[in-house]
Amino acid sequence: MLTTVFPYDSVELSSNGREVIILDQSLLPNQEKFLHLTTAEQVFFAITLMKVRGAPAIGIAAAFGLAMTINRSKCRELDLFEKEFLRTKRYLYISRPTAINLMWALDRMEDCFYRVKNSIDDTDQTVIDIIKNALIAEARSIKVEETRMSVAIAENGISLLTHGCGILTHCNAGHLAVSRYGTALSPIYLAHQKGYSPMVYVNETRPLLQGARLTAYELMRAGIDVTLICDNMASIVMSQKRVDSVFVGCDRIAANGDVANKVGTSGLAILAKHYGVPFYVFGPSSTIDFNCASGRDIVIEERPSYEITDMYFSKPIAPKGTKVFNPSFDITPAELITGIVTEKGIFKPEEISKVK
Ligand code: MRU
Repeated sequence: MLTTVFPYDSVELSSNGREVIILDQSLLPNQEKFLHLTTAEQVFFAITLMKVRGAPAIGIAAAFGLAMTINRSKCRELDLFEKEFLRTKRYLYISRPTAINLMWALDRMEDCFYRVKNSIDDTDQTVIDIIKNALIAEARSIKVEETRMSVAIAENGISLLTHGCGILTHCNAGHLAVSRYGTALSPIYLAHQKGYSPMVYVNETRPLLQGARLTAYELMRAGIDVTLICDNMASIVMSQKRVDSVFVGCDRIAANGDVANKVGTSGLAILAKHYGVPFYVFGPSSTIDFNCASGRDIVIEERPSYEITDMYFSKPIAPKGTKVFNPSFDITPAELITGIVTEKGIFKPEEISKVK
């Protein structure tokens, strides 16, 4: 049985469905502060500014944000209520472009809206109340499913770990990125619980330092052996045979097995191939986009320059006005991936359509 290291989930909906509660990941590891979000705008900016981040967590937060906003709606006419729902959904849909879990969760909420609307013939107010309750239930079940998928990923992924093994990971694909347990980190937690004593090398993950700030924080809290490295040290770590495998999460898996994940992932995969280190990607089926033929079709988010030049430094580290390119993700081609670990098993990237 996988148990969690945190006494709380990183994303939650209050019991009355009127607040989305998130742990502000932008303040970690120095401050554990929970935000109580009560408007769609607050949820939008929490996602855009990465106070909540990680593909599954973004999807859950958006679904909760839509359910919460609609639950607070004062609309008494069904037509206007429907317009408000669609406007809010479209607004949250564009809060970040790469992780497909965001769109997947919001599309599921829309399906739920129309399933209920089309199945009831009653007064507007009664239909509105039933839809509100159904949307809250749907958003909660998205979270429950993501959590269950994380546990199944841990159970499938543990077969890739051995006693005292070394793992290199990038970014954060743990508890914080899902709301509980994680994807790439969940088998590591399970292995630790079973006494395997895994040793984890964590890439700091420039520029937003999800590895240093979040992954090191999570794993150390669980009592796992963590060694932090700068991203440009992965080559020497692999050359010295300090790691047996690379484990990373993903933001979108294309139908041909190409994977979008935090920028730097594709470089790690190239290094892993050079040194003969197995390279595994972990993700729930909600991260697979069968409408996306290959990695070339995935939109890569570009983020502001200050994240590279100023953020997390006490003084700017580049001349004012320096031209900056800040892609937040990159594409790892299927041929560099040893296996994709999902809740349904471990697949060769070219066989990812079997998950359907
Ligand atoms: O920009 P981020 O921090 O949201 O990027 C997150 C990642 O790249 C994760 O590896 C991915 O979302 C998987 S989370 C289980």
